[in-house]
Amino acid sequence: MSIEPNTPLIDRLGRVHTSLRISVTDRCNIRCFYCMPLENVRFKPRDELLTFEEMTRVVRVAAEHGITKLRLTGGEPLVRSNLAHLIRMLKEVPGIQEIALTTNGILLTDQAADLKSAGLDRLNVSLDAMSEAMFERITRRQGVQKVLDGIAAAQAVGFRNIRLNAVAIQNLTECEIVPLANFARENDLHLRFIEFMPLDADRAWDKNQVLSGRQLREIISREVAPLRDVDRPDKSQPAVDYDYADGRQRIGFINSVTEPFCGTCNRLRITAEGQLRNCLFGTEEWDARQVLRNSGTDADLSARLHDCVQAKKPSHGMDSPEFVPPERAMYQIGG
Ligand code: 5AD
Ligand code: SF4
Repeated sequence: MSIEPNTPLIDRLGRVHTSLRISVTDRCNIRCFYCMPLENVRFKPRDELLTFEEMTRVVRVAAEHGITKLRLTGGEPLVRSNLAHLIRMLKEVPGIQEIALTTNGILLTDQAADLKSAGLDRLNVSLDAMSEAMFERITRRQGVQKVLDGIAAAQAVGFRNIRLNAVAIQNLTECEIVPLANFARENDLHLRFIEFMPLDADRAWDKNQVLSGRQLREIISREVAPLRDVDRPDKSQPAVDYDYADGRQRIGFINSVTEPFCGTCNRLRITAEGQLRNCLFGTEEWDARQVLRNSGTDADLSARLHDCVQAKKPSHGMDSPEFVPPERAMYQIGG
């Protein structure tokens, strides 16, 4: 079946897809236990990864079907060489209104200026701990200061409204919650806590390690400052935001496990080697690379995108007894 140009990517439940998350590499310079294995990491060979030209082509076709927002992820996107060049290419695609990047911040000091001048619109920095000891327990590498320097460098070159993403782990990172919240408030960063999801390569995830958004909210309102609902919540955002009652900053909670937000999901993903996915927890993939590398047409790419969207399930089903985590871990999908 051929798809008319400009047909929006609407799934069977009426969800309109406007956002595409592009993993640019499966490599990473740290080893967060909730994502990567500690040893024997199998990275994809370079020639299996999409080239910048291939990614740009997918984006051009996706934009014709209503994708307006891109997020570059990894692995760690800043380990892909010349990422700023990709951003320049994507900026020129008609219809793309915003390009964001999710990074662990380790290489940000070096690259912030290039990313800014390439036209990157938004930055999310992942940081789960302020203390080096905890940072090391989580990431199995050193480097909290590099991340903090990276954030400062990004602000110095003009990035505003930077988001800080913190995965919270029960019986582990409780002592980091207040320091993270204070750091964010003092540095004009929008902190968002993310519940630990079963996407770790080691398959060690356990429900008891989930520190829920509700628990986090109680800790924050007791020990940092009272919280109040925001007036106009942004429905397409996975985070539930709150304002601090004293007016200093805002904080969000991404309650993917305890309060799934699948009903408003507007996101598609493409892995570094060009597999389209309709959900982080999906078990199926649609091969865009095969189309790209076998002289497929733009119409063929459109068809893959639409097939992927049409097959999207109502929700990730994490609370069902039949739930099985996806075969790929987070670094292989792209967060
Ligand atoms: N659960 C929750 N968040 C995760 N991330 C990576 N793995 C997991 C997981 N298992 C987060 C990273 C980053 C974002 C892309 O996803 O910390 O902020
Ligand atoms: Fe690297 Fe991000 Fe995975 Fe941590 S969560 S190992 S920073 S890709």
